[in-house]
Amino acid sequence: MTGKLYYGDNIDILRKKIRDETIDLCYIDPPFNSKRNYNQIYNNIGEEDKAQSHAFTDTWLWDSRAIAGYDEIIANDNGRFTAQLVDLIKGLRPVLGAGSLLAYLISIALRVTEIQRVLKPAGSFYLHCDPTASHYLKLVLDAVFCPHGGDFKNEIVWHYRRWTGRAKKFQELHDIVFFYTKSADYKFNALYTPYTEGSKARKEQGVLHRFKDGEEPHLVSDKSVDEKGVRENDVWQIPFIAPSAKERLGYPTQKPEALLERIIAACSNEGDVVMDAYCGCGTTVAVAQRLKRNWIGIDITYQSISVILKRLEDTFGKNILNKIITDGIPKDMKSAEALAHKKDDRLRKEFEKWAVLTYTNNRAIINEKKGGDKGIDGITYFKTGKEDNAKIIFQVKSGGVKRGDIATLRGDMAREKAALACLITLEEPTRNMIQEAKDAGQFRHKDMGRSYDVISIVTVKEIVEDGKRLDIPMSLEVLKAAQKVEDSKQMSLLGE
Ligand SMILES: C[S@@+](CC[C@H](N)C(=O)[O-])C[C@H]1O[C@@H](n2cnc3c(N)ncnc32)[C@H](O)[C@@H]1O
Repeated sequence: MTGKLYYGDNIDILRKKIRDETIDLCYIDPPFNSKRNYNQIYNNIGEEDKAQSHAFTDTWLWDSRAIAGYDEIIANDNGRFTAQLVDLIKGLRPVLGAGSLLAYLISIALRVTEIQRVLKPAGSFYLHCDPTASHYLKLVLDAVFCPHGGDFKNEIVWHYRRWTGRAKKFQELHDIVFFYTKSADYKFNALYTPYTEGSKARKEQGVLHRFKDGEEPHLVSDKSVDEKGVRENDVWQIPFIAPSAKERLGYPTQKPEALLERIIAACSNEGDVVMDAYCGCGTTVAVAQRLKRNWIGIDITYQSISVILKRLEDTFGKNILNKIITDGIPKDMKSAEALAHKKDDRLRKEFEKWAVLTYTNNRAIINEKKGGDKGIDGITYFKTGKEDNAKIIFQVKSGGVKRGDIATLRGDMAREKAALACLITLEEPTRNMIQEAKDAGQFRHKDMGRSYDVISIVTVKEIVEDGKRLDIPMSLEVLKAAQKVEDSKQMSLLGE
């Protein structure tokens, strides 16, 4: 069994690295901020409430990437796209306008076209979304799959309970998962829920059904119940991941393992290849690994890759890391420099995240805040006694390091009440910097019987070429507990 984790944009990876007809099952859950006012999305109103729509427009802009995608589909060189998809995208432009929703649909159309190509003839595809764009997405999926002999099988409703606010409408308590197959001859393992007393009684007594208009109601045997149990239907009652759930990793869009279990069990068998091209914190890959499938995960952010590596290590043991093939993660100076100098605005701070997470063996927390502490790229805690912890702050520099950086870091340490600080630098530090860091003195760790430099300087070269890692026992459990308390505080504010 193999697991392959790709770090990069899925369009590039699908096009360059995934061969035709090699995947049995693909599930995707692309980012979509549906909290944004629907009117703004549909009407593409220019004067939007920027604060409200910020997260959405951050992700889906009518920008040069969207325009290039639109042009590529319309030009349809090499006949990559179906005629129906070309007509659909062309036709949606005057309807939706050149805005966020069309940008989103184009991005999905480009990628789903590649996914259709890489699926084996008996392969299946699942797209996870919500009603904000599900109707438009279905048009895109029909246009990609059906002209090639594929078929729409189900619109699965994932129903959960959670508080969604007091808007003047019904509570929104479901997501949509579309299920398509590449051909009429596809793999499908029917799923059953074991009998309950109620379902057994229904089978034995028959159920009252009303058939056609005018036909008298009469008892029939319930066909959805057979000897294996109740046959699974297209409305899935699966709890949302609760703040206290064991599987919760703190990744905002994490999906429950139970949901992926159903998809993977229904449309693949042991040894098959399961792919998630937007794999987030790795729910699909963790379930695929547990169910003995080969898997491929792709994500564009290093945080996601880092969470997945840690999730797999925590679930399956350290050895699994030796068996996973990773691709796109800097392994030498050349690729580290390339990441540091990438101009893609979606990859903001990716180099910093990669450096901090790699140096801490995926144990640090990335600082996403934009406040006064914006100089700090990550933090972690280390044990100083049975119950005690102290903080380490990290700062990453991809160029122009100077002596003043150490003084600034000392200031940050004082403000953050950190015991240690670490500067990770792409360039070699100057002698003055090394001296200034040394002058900050040493921290005596009683439990470890060792002393650590209060300010350490680590080069990216040491990280990639010598495998240098932070060698102080970190107390992640403390962090997790803190995060869970914060989460449940938020939930209770929401009235849950
Ligand atoms: C909604 S999350 C997926 C959550 C996932 N289902 C889980 O349970 O953890 C979407 C993910 O897609 C990733 N992503 C967005 N655009 C991408 C792209 N072009 N290529 C690869 N990954 C991308 C994001 O970084 C994010 O981690």
